Amino acid sequence: MILYFSGTGNSHYVANRIASATHDSLFSICQQMKDHQHGPIFSKTPLVFVLPTYGWRIPRMVEQWIEDTSFEGNLSAYFILTCGTGTGNAVGYCASLCRKKGFSFMGLSSIIMPENYIAMFPVPDAKQAAAIIQAAEPHISSSAERIHRQEPLPKEPISLIGRLESAVANPVLYACFIRAKGFYATDACVGCGQCEVLCPTNNITLLDGTPQWANHCIHCMACICRCPQEAIEYKKRSLGKPRYFLNP
Ligand SMILES: Cc1cc2nc3c(=O)[nH]c(=O)nc-3n(C[C@H](O)[C@H](O)[C@H](O)COP(=O)(O)O)c2cc1C
Repeated sequence: MILYFSGTGNSHYVANRIASATHDSLFSICQQMKDHQHGPIFSKTPLVFVLPTYGWRIPRMVEQWIEDTSFEGNLSAYFILTCGTGTGNAVGYCASLCRKKGFSFMGLSSIIMPENYIAMFPVPDAKQAAAIIQAAEPHISSSAERIHRQEPLPKEPISLIGRLESAVANPVLYACFIRAKGFYATDACVGCGQCEVLCPTNNITLLDGTPQWANHCIHCMACICRCPQEAIEYKKRSLGKPRYFLNP
């Protein structure tokens, strides 16, 4: 079973590619989180978690969802992390999550995809994004083949900096940056409610046709990047930047 979480489409795209190469089914963690569902989830095939990297680890709310959810059947677990540049020591934290859950850890692949963190960094334009995705294709295919053969994924090297990013920079990112304060809708908003539907944590509600953000945002960038009117901004940081979304 290919379980994915995706804000802006990268992980959904990779999950689709793996599902078709392994003839396995897709399962949306976003929808489960939105619906406050925690299984039980039964899978005959290994669990393949396809997730974005947030602060050199898997997104905290997804980790919590995995911890709180009961899984039955095949309890081998693969982790495929899409990222802009790297996953630090996410592998160490995924292995430890597997120990907690009684999963047999089958390894982690880091797949470099276009950066989506428009609230912090520049994001690529369409041409740059296409080139990054094309470069990722062989890695996606080789990971899918290994999963199909139920072989462990090759170990990736972890640098000292990578360990520090996951252990030290991750808590700093959550403490200082990951919050909803800063998002706002501009006059271009037509009140279509797409942001409310897309938000995986039900953090957005429309008040008199205008989106309002509560305080359990996970910075997935779905609202700002997928607004059909490009009517959402984050402080001054997103002004003038292209929106990034990959159609899975
Ligand atoms: C809150 C946040 C934190 C991120 N942290 C990292 C990171 O630590 N390392 C990295 O390489 N990319 C990081 N990124 C980039 C995403 O992991 C990457 O673009 C991913 O493919 C997005 O997947 P999605 O389109 O499925 O949401 C971060 C993005 C966001 C929104």
